[in-house]
Amino acid sequence: MTEPFYITTPIYYVNAMPHLGHAYTTIAADVVCRFNFMRQNETLFLTGTDEHGDKIVRAAKKDNISPKAYVDTISKVFKDLWHQLNIKYDCFIRTTDPAHMAVVKQMLQKIYDAGDIYFSEYEGLYCFGCERFFTERELVDGKCPDHRIEPELIKESNYFFKMSRYQDWLIDHIEKHSDFIRPERYRNEVLAFLSEPLEDLCISRPKKRLKWGITLPFDKDYVTYVWFDALLNYISALGYPDGEPFKKFWPHVQHIIAKDILKPHGIYWPIMLKAAGIPMYNHLNVHGYWNVDQSKMSKSIGNVVEPLQLKNVYGLDAFRFFLMRDMVFGLDSNFSEEALVQRINADLANDLGNLFSRVVAMVHKYFKGIVPEIDPEVEDQFQLGLESDALSTISEYEQAMETFAFHKALVVIWELIAKMNKYVDVTSPWVLAKKKSSQKQLQVVISNLLNGLGVIAGLIYPIMPDTSAAMQKHLGMDPDMIKKGRFNNLDILKAWKTIKPGMQIPKGITLFPRIDLKNKVAAQKELAAGEPLSVLKTEIPMEAFGAIDLRVATVLSAESIPRAKKLLKLEVDLGEKRTLVAGIAASYKPEDLVGKQVIVVANLKPAKIMGIVSNGMVLAAVDDNGCSLVTIDRNVKPGTQVG
Ligand code: MSP
Repeated sequence: MTEPFYITTPIYYVNAMPHLGHAYTTIAADVVCRFNFMRQNETLFLTGTDEHGDKIVRAAKKDNISPKAYVDTISKVFKDLWHQLNIKYDCFIRTTDPAHMAVVKQMLQKIYDAGDIYFSEYEGLYCFGCERFFTERELVDGKCPDHRIEPELIKESNYFFKMSRYQDWLIDHIEKHSDFIRPERYRNEVLAFLSEPLEDLCISRPKKRLKWGITLPFDKDYVTYVWFDALLNYISALGYPDGEPFKKFWPHVQHIIAKDILKPHGIYWPIMLKAAGIPMYNHLNVHGYWNVDQSKMSKSIGNVVEPLQLKNVYGLDAFRFFLMRDMVFGLDSNFSEEALVQRINADLANDLGNLFSRVVAMVHKYFKGIVPEIDPEVEDQFQLGLESDALSTISEYEQAMETFAFHKALVVIWELIAKMNKYVDVTSPWVLAKKKSSQKQLQVVISNLLNGLGVIAGLIYPIMPDTSAAMQKHLGMDPDMIKKGRFNNLDILKAWKTIKPGMQIPKGITLFPRIDLKNKVAAQKELAAGEPLSVLKTEIPMEAFGAIDLRVATVLSAESIPRAKKLLKLEVDLGEKRTLVAGIAASYKPEDLVGKQVIVVANLKPAKIMGIVSNGMVLAAVDDNGCSLVTIDRNVKPGTQVG
């Protein structure tokens, strides 16, 4: 029986450009959504952008544009990227949408009227970068762990949401619903957090401090705290409370997030729903973090991975496959281009690609490209369990996909591919082809292989939609039906015989060319020379560039960092003294740098690298010979702006 299915991603902050991490979550949501389409469920896929708060105001001010103009620009960058990654969302919400803002006000009023919001004076340690109060135990050496600055003690009257009142209820709900938060490690994390008394949540910010937000319906001098505003997107997008989509899809909702935002989704959000009398979400699916070279992706280390660049060099489906195959859902994963190339060569070019081209070539060689008829009398003789293997693959695949275990789903498909490769070797069609008496057996073998490939083409659809369509086309499936997604249907795959006898199939294609890492660098260069636009990052408006504060800095001192072969610690003067960590140790000796003038991105969020807080990023060009620092051709006063 089919049922509605509703999947949401986090709505992303527009103060940073999208990267590999954002792409992973959104592709994962696209994959589950397409999987549900294969089950003939009616699907709804929501993503969007989170656009209120102080960070946005500061970013816009720097650019000398209004916050609205700023968020319009960056929100579009996210939207465009999703199109380029073949992510088929149904609905893109922005927290500046008037309909969303109206729902936030309505919910606030509802909870206020129910007596769960109160006004109180609060004195606490406030980090302006994070836009929130910190408790002593959350600080590291008395400083905000993200911004490495001491929070300020501020006294403020604000509105508070009585979360503490719902603590016991939430513990009980999580205990009774073992997969409410999954995988289990994150469920345990939330329960551990709830074993301490839960503090009420400050849900307002005085307008004298922040104007860019949604005004509280019961006090015009305050705006809503960004998280209280943002979480409500999941229902405002459905037209809560009376919209048909809300009635239809909300009872089937599943959220997908990474571990960084577990607390708001595992604690604030269920309590907000409970306080407003809205049924609970079904599952919170939490994945780990993509790191690069074992450290967090960060602009200051210069290790931020750009999805479009990878797509342009390796192909979209290979990139999507790698993300889903290499991350064990729930655990952190380390990104490296070497691992990506290895996966493409081993799993895609060798295992899948070779099987596909071998089989298509045999259909042409032995049957002039026409799918053979089979004689039911000999059919069983040469089956060797392939059909039942395929059926159990489908069932294991379904179980894995239901729990977002994409890597497992791919492992079981690849086990079937391995069995099919073995089947070719065991049945040796080239031997059968030599004898007239074994023609019927040859027909059965080839037909089995074609049906097996039909199943594989279908199962990979959620992860690699274009490859799935290309395979279907080359297996002789009806182009109109392929377009309509007729074969992307688990019931059809379970019927096993997807490929009709008598069909003429086109000549084979190379699904995934093998990649040689050395040639890849050459190919990348060729691309850059021949088709410069295809390797460029997404176009950005002038305002986005203007947000980057580039300064000339003079290097005062430089030293190596123990246990970090690639990094140097620099003290620079850019009008003020700054410490920077730069990944240039392979190309520069510390003593060669002193006195050099370099260009620094001066307004990057500080990042802790190997225990050192880096307050900016040094610009350099990187090629096969290492890196070369960007400098200027006449010395200028440290701190001079570059633009
Ligand atoms: N605006 C909030 C979410 C509000 S939802 C009601 C926010 N935005 S964010 O831009 O910071 O996005 C965080 C999310 O981006 C993560 O939960 C995850 O989905 C994705 N990722 C960002 N960096 C990531 C990695 N390095 N690895 C994997 N995913 C990560 O928080």
